[in-house]
Amino acid sequence: MKVLVTGGAGFIGSHIVDFLVAKGNDVVIIDNLSTGKKEHLNKKAKFYEADITKDIDFIFQKEKPDIVIHTAAQVMLRESIKDPLNDAKINILGTINVLESCRKNNVKKIIYTSTGGARVGEPEYLPVDEKHPLNPCSPYGISKHTAEHYVWMYRQLYDLDYLIFCFGNVYGPRDDPKCKRVISVFIDSMLRNEPPLIFGDGNQTRDFIYVLDLAEFIVENIGKNPKQKLFHLANSEQISVNEIFRILKEVSGFREEAKHIEAIKGEVRDIVLDTSLVKKELGWNPKHSFNEGLKETFEWFKKNQSVQ
Ligand SMILES: NC(=O)c1ccc[n+]([C@@H]2O[C@H](COP(=O)([O-])OP(=O)(O)OC[C@H]3O[C@@H](n4cnc5c(N)ncnc54)[C@H](O)[C@@H]3O)[C@@H](O)[C@H]2O)c1
Repeated sequence: MKVLVTGGAGFIGSHIVDFLVAKGNDVVIIDNLSTGKKEHLNKKAKFYEADITKDIDFIFQKEKPDIVIHTAAQVMLRESIKDPLNDAKINILGTINVLESCRKNNVKKIIYTSTGGARVGEPEYLPVDEKHPLNPCSPYGISKHTAEHYVWMYRQLYDLDYLIFCFGNVYGPRDDPKCKRVISVFIDSMLRNEPPLIFGDGNQTRDFIYVLDLAEFIVENIGKNPKQKLFHLANSEQISVNEIFRILKEVSGFREEAKHIEAIKGEVRDIVLDTSLVKKELGWNPKHSFNEGLKETFEWFKKNQSVQ
């Protein structure tokens, strides 16, 4: 099968590409390398350095992919607050541009990667299931969710099949501390012997998912056709920022305390995702416990520190 992955040089996209290649698929990548890295590109995949908000139709015409996995996005919630126009341009207009190329070039299916937390806003109940009301409180949450509507609409208008996976907080090898995700930022600080900064009291909780579990699962399920089309992917485990710091101290031997600074507006206080639907329909069963995943992630950062 020929699979085109937008954002295939990125943290999650590059792992998806690796699993696709390992399973014998013909893989094409579109990435503008804004946060993605050349060293994450799989050598067996064909790479186009291109921007999803510009002309990408010639790539689709030439490559004629069967399936598109769309991971390219502006992914930083705080950046989306600083520059909501750019966030909307990439996440909404960029997705429409990808969908238009899918339509014009007879792509059979698109897999869209969304967020489980930011699209919901402050939860009304926990764990958050796929039917929870959506009140995103950041431009990023709005743009990622808006693009879901377009994906849905292309199915209604043009019969473009789709699946949408809404992730918890993803962590693991190749995460970039510059993208400001808590685990890579903490590890990066510890390896530089600097105390990590914790926003607020650190008792805020998130639901973390190891990138290899998630990428392998997506690749295994690209050909499936379940009745439901939108699924959470997470560990369904509520972990506080203080708890992450505690486990990482154990794993790393770091001795100093973290510094607490003012909490950020636009970020939810607590979130944990209900994953019973994806367990039932697609047999989701992540292999790594949080402690195992964190240990592997720390080891990867230690070995690859110069890459970051
Ligand atoms: N990391 C998480 O915790 C998380 C959680 C929920 C959802 N997601 C979603 O998963 C997807 C992948 O995120 P990630 O964590 O791998 O981030 P990432 O920044 O590592 O990956 C995004 C990739 O898209 C590329 N890109 C950005 N703008 C582009 C453009 N205009 N044209 C072409 N390429 C462009 C970047 O260079 C990068 O390689 C995103 O859609 C994100 O919204 C991530």
